[in-house]
Amino acid sequence: MAPTIRLSNGAELPAFGLGTWKSKPGEVRDAVLEAIRAGYRHVDCAWIYGNEPEVGAALTELIDGGEVARDDVWITSKLWNDRHAPEDVEPALRETLAHLGLRHLDLYLMHWPVALNKGVMVPRAAEEMRSLEDVPLTETWSAMEGLVDAGLCRTIGVSNFSATKLGEVLDAARIPPAMNQVEMHPYLAQNDLLAYCRERDVAVTAYSPLGSRDRPKSMKAEAEPVLLEDPAVGEVAAKHAASPAQVLIAWALRRGTVVIPKSVNAERIRQNLAATELTLDDDDMATIAALDRHRRYVDGAFWALEGSSYSVAGLWDE
Ligand code: A2P
Repeated sequence: MAPTIRLSNGAELPAFGLGTWKSKPGEVRDAVLEAIRAGYRHVDCAWIYGNEPEVGAALTELIDGGEVARDDVWITSKLWNDRHAPEDVEPALRETLAHLGLRHLDLYLMHWPVALNKGVMVPRAAEEMRSLEDVPLTETWSAMEGLVDAGLCRTIGVSNFSATKLGEVLDAARIPPAMNQVEMHPYLAQNDLLAYCRERDVAVTAYSPLGSRDRPKSMKAEAEPVLLEDPAVGEVAAKHAASPAQVLIAWALRRGTVVIPKSVNAERIRQNLAATELTLDDDDMATIAALDRHRRYVDGAFWALEGSSYSVAGLWDE
């Protein structure tokens, strides 16, 4: 049985879930069916992934067919950056709910601390972006709180937030963000951010836990280090007769984070779930801790458009 994590509002979520970023329509329905049938009880979604209707088709099939009860699966989704204006927040969630075929979400996150003009998915020019002075994170957050009041989602949180930005929202919140979902793996251990989140009772979800090799070419550097091929990860894997991916998942779980590896392959979907049975020892954790190099695979450079109020350093506050 996969571990669970209790959130600041008392809700408990499975620490292991299925990621769906980059899962194509045409693949993701089968992946969700496979995952839930194998024993996954948590699916991580987002409006921007463009595949929520298919994820929803699988969930409807599973729930209506009596294979899983709605209350036994944890479904997360995320508000896209073009819906930060307070009046756009509830309609955005309602659209996601319609796509997913659900009446409520378990967790809804602000996807990025970045605001875009309505209708813009990925900006090509600064004119398509709005500054955070113009659309403050705390105002979007107030609208997120309204979603809990309206019974449309049980828990709310943020994603890609630095400690500084998370602190701003926490200090102003009526309902505190219970989750910060960020990129996290041995090359980007984010020890300080994790410690800050612990201190403020915000749980952390590790995204791209396997190093997201399948992300778009435009987001990749030449000759980047491949996490799944790291020799030290391979050594720990060999010691436990496990795969490197399983070691990365077990590492995230042992640190007390939620982890959402993406796969659309039936064998790897099952292999990843089996990693919840793998326990790393202190030596393994020390070996892996030595790999930290603050290497972001999703560095947010796509928001740092010339003439905009965004920069990579400003995004992460570092
Ligand atoms: P696939 O979907 O074909 O299984 P991340 O979760 O960090 O974004 O990484 C996702 C990438 O890792 C995808 O390319 C996915 O491919 C691959 N992947 C998922 N599970 C495993 C595994 N157990 N072993 C190797 N690669 C995996």
